[in-house]
Amino acid sequence: MPLIDSFGRTIDYLRVSVTDRCNFRCIYCMPEEGAPIAPGADLLSAEELIRIISVASRLGMRKIRFTGGEPLVRKDLVQIIQCTAKLSGIEEISLTTNGFLLKPIVDKLTNAGLNRINISLDTLKHDRFVSIARRGSLAEVLDGIEASLAAGLHPVKLNCVVMRGWNEDEILDFAQLSLERKIDVRFIELMPINWSAGDDSPRSEAWNITSQPTITSTGNRLTLYANAELETFRQSFQSIDPTEVKGQLDANQMRRAFVSTDEILRAIEKRFGSMVPTEVLVNGPARSYQIPGATGTISFISQITNDMCKNCNRLRLTADGQLRPCLMADGEVDLRTHLRTGADDEQLAELFRITVLHKPAEHRLEDGLAPIGRNMSQLGG
Ligand code: 5AD
Ligand code: SF4
Repeated sequence: MPLIDSFGRTIDYLRVSVTDRCNFRCIYCMPEEGAPIAPGADLLSAEELIRIISVASRLGMRKIRFTGGEPLVRKDLVQIIQCTAKLSGIEEISLTTNGFLLKPIVDKLTNAGLNRINISLDTLKHDRFVSIARRGSLAEVLDGIEASLAAGLHPVKLNCVVMRGWNEDEILDFAQLSLERKIDVRFIELMPINWSAGDDSPRSEAWNITSQPTITSTGNRLTLYANAELETFRQSFQSIDPTEVKGQLDANQMRRAFVSTDEILRAIEKRFGSMVPTEVLVNGPARSYQIPGATGTISFISQITNDMCKNCNRLRLTADGQLRPCLMADGEVDLRTHLRTGADDEQLAELFRITVLHKPAEHRLEDGLAPIGRNMSQLGG
């Protein structure tokens, strides 16, 4: 029986964060000094991860994506991928990485069973890289991209979060990449979320799943949303002075930096002519196009301006073993404790079913309702 949620969506895709640690400090994700991290003992071991993924696979979850933090900082990732690939029912294994450590290991990952890769890259300018990612260097990431193409991972997907005042002047350069290379350039709308102290974004009271569901209970729906405070995030569209940003962008700065898919698409079509809708192998929500004659493709991830939630097919597992029905809602179910206190596979499967029942219909970011429980680096994007 596949997992089907209360809104009829089939849930066959599990995003697995293998670590909350990261070697970058992207301005929209974490402050310069880094985000809070879980104690090492709370992170799931390779064995525990495989156990959970095997339960998921028996529940019909066919696609697994490994994320972080930065998944490549985890030394046993090759082994984790190898074991995942051996599970029957797993049809596709993908990885989201910042690319910095990728080149030396990409062949091993591919041989272990990795099928697809998404590499985050927000700028093609070396000096700008330093002010956006604030660690690492562009050269290594570009090497990682080349190595991925050479390793036969096709298409290689690049994730570019477009931000006014930071990189919106590079939209055409990114689009150009798709002309010559077998790359899917994915423009991602910035999600105006920041959980750090001092954030002044409108938000509702903190809420938690205070009592964890017992393994046998089903259908006890939790209140996934507190009342929305109605204020749109699309307040003003002035640009930001990058030199002013020391920590992480706050939610208001992110609202100002927001660039919509429509605007990006119009800029590309003005320069390159009308694009043709196309199919790219996707795990869900991207809309894809091709500039006529191009080798690669261009996709848009429009979490803010498009209702992508209706096609949502995923659950998320955090690095510390919490199963989360939605990126944008704070509720989660504690698999780790059950796993470590002897739950059997059927009991773990039941926790999956309970989590699926709590998938909300959609996120409510546009109502000013943001999750506050975790940083993006703890959720795996
Ligand atoms: N909005 C949009 N994308 C984000 N990512 C991280 N934080 C945000 C945000 N606030 C993206 C990264 C990476 C992926 C893991 O998530 O750029 O591509
Ligand atoms: Fe950047 Fe991803 Fe690391 Fe966050 S987790 S700092 S988005 S590379």
